[in-house]
Amino acid sequence: MLETVVGTNGILVPPPGYLQGVRELCDEHGIVYIADEVMAGFGRCGEWFAVDHFGVTPDLICFAKGVNSGYIPLGGVIISERIAASFQDRAFPGGLTYSGHPLACASAVASIRIFEEEGILENVRTLSASVIEPRLTEIAAKHPSVGDVRGLGFFWALELVKDRQTREPLVPYNASGAAAAPMTAFAAACRAEGMWPFVHFNRTHVVPPCTMTAEELATGLDILDKALDVADEHTT
Ligand SMILES: Cc1ncc(COP(=O)(O)O)c(C=O)c1O
Repeated sequence: MLETVVGTNGILVPPPGYLQGVRELCDEHGIVYIADEVMAGFGRCGEWFAVDHFGVTPDLICFAKGVNSGYIPLGGVIISERIAASFQDRAFPGGLTYSGHPLACASAVASIRIFEEEGILENVRTLSASVIEPRLTEIAAKHPSVGDVRGLGFFWALELVKDRQTREPLVPYNASGAAAAPMTAFAAACRAEGMWPFVHFNRTHVVPPCTMTAEELATGLDILDKALDVADEHTT
């Protein structure tokens, strides 16, 4: 079971061939491949599912958040035909109080229709390539505190460092209080300009709504750029 692109723990994009290798190993050893697409799915990586980007087919896909943007709580599991067939002559041993709730499912159907009508996947692909990636690359070149930039679609992380050569993180692992001050100051600088950043250890993530326009992205990236001056003050 793995997140196709690891989310909260750092936006870790698998290298080419990695997931194909996982698929082959699962096939070879009779292992069920479960893709957790709760964060990476539904357009976040520019495809319906992030696995589509890598050309692999899992046996099960877990989804939630992006399926309906959380308008109604909904999560689910997509089951491959082969596994679904095993429940044709025996009961599926699962269920929740609100399993298959019609209102929640209707909100997903409506949301998926809007994805199609408003070209959300295209928006993510186009603006990732034309706005986010080039601007983050420029930001990384400009700020000594940026040690790494990585991501896919509208799913990006910046790793902040004290020193680009040694790659020492800007704050220690799991830092809090005074030890986390450089990241706290960076986050405060973002908030002072009206943007609430996601900050985890020495990382900040750029994970905007998939409906964002180029102008809105530029506004957010301008704030990020400016706030990184504060992080730069803590580099050696
Ligand atoms: C990648 C990932 N998987 C699973 C979950 C849990 O999802 P749920 O609360 O819908 O079970 C989360 C929730 O944050 C998540 O980010």
